Amino acid sequence: MHQIQNMEQNNDGGMSQVRHVVLVLSGKGGVGKSTITTELALALRHAGNKVGILDIDLCGPSIPRMLNVGRTDVHQCDSGWVPVYTDAEKSLALMSIGFLLEDPDEAVVWRGPKKTALIGQFVSDVAWGELDVLLIDTPPGTSDEHLAVLDNLKKHRLDGAVLVTTPQAVSTGDVRREITFCKKTGVRILGIIENMSGFVCPHCSECSNIFSKGGGES
Ligand SMILES: Nc1ncnc2c1ncn2[C@@H]1O[C@H](COP(=O)(O)OP(=O)(O)OP(=O)(O)O)[C@@H](O)[C@H]1O
Ligand SMILES: [Mg+2]
Repeated sequence: MHQIQNMEQNNDGGMSQVRHVVLVLSGKGGVGKSTITTELALALRHAGNKVGILDIDLCGPSIPRMLNVGRTDVHQCDSGWVPVYTDAEKSLALMSIGFLLEDPDEAVVWRGPKKTALIGQFVSDVAWGELDVLLIDTPPGTSDEHLAVLDNLKKHRLDGAVLVTTPQAVSTGDVRREITFCKKTGVRILGIIENMSGFVCPHCSECSNIFSKGGGES
């Protein structure tokens, strides 16, 4: 693990030039938060925006792989960690715990206070520069990471959260708890995406509609 504890605090806030901040949340793991974060980022960039992704899934950072960004050393400048840019135009910036791991397969077991401190650094100390939208990919649930990110976003503006579910009852039940979390913490819900929904196999009739659909509406 690279030295992260020695980083100097940057009080002017690396998010001062970030116009919009959106969290991507779900109660359940594996429903497609990281996929949706990536696709939202690419769509927003396609529409002409400068976009950033902050991957705070400390135990399973998957955004670098989804954006095909391999092992990358992250550097510090006077105003904080320099994000990794996926293109020469610097229209898509990325910061992930994945960049701080010496070995991508390293099993990371983070405990409460260390996790909270790292997320504090992540939120406050990445030198994002000017961004139209910053998307924050989160781990499943409503745990330390979520509370830490909300706590650290208090000094900035959080526009709200996009919730992700799949159509099945096990997922919609968990997303309801996420809605309660948003209400209790005052996070505006921008929308709910029902992912992996309603696929009809174009090649055969036997596996038509292998995913159900519509559960997220309830
Ligand atoms: N609409 C979709 N159709 C098919 N596969 C999908 C779709 N959305 C996501 N997947 C696949 O499902 C798997 C889980 O997706 P993803 O990693 O985005 O979920 P996640 O909610 O971020 O998971 P975690 O909770 O572990 O962070 C991945 O292999 C992804 O490629
Ligand atoms: Mg994920």
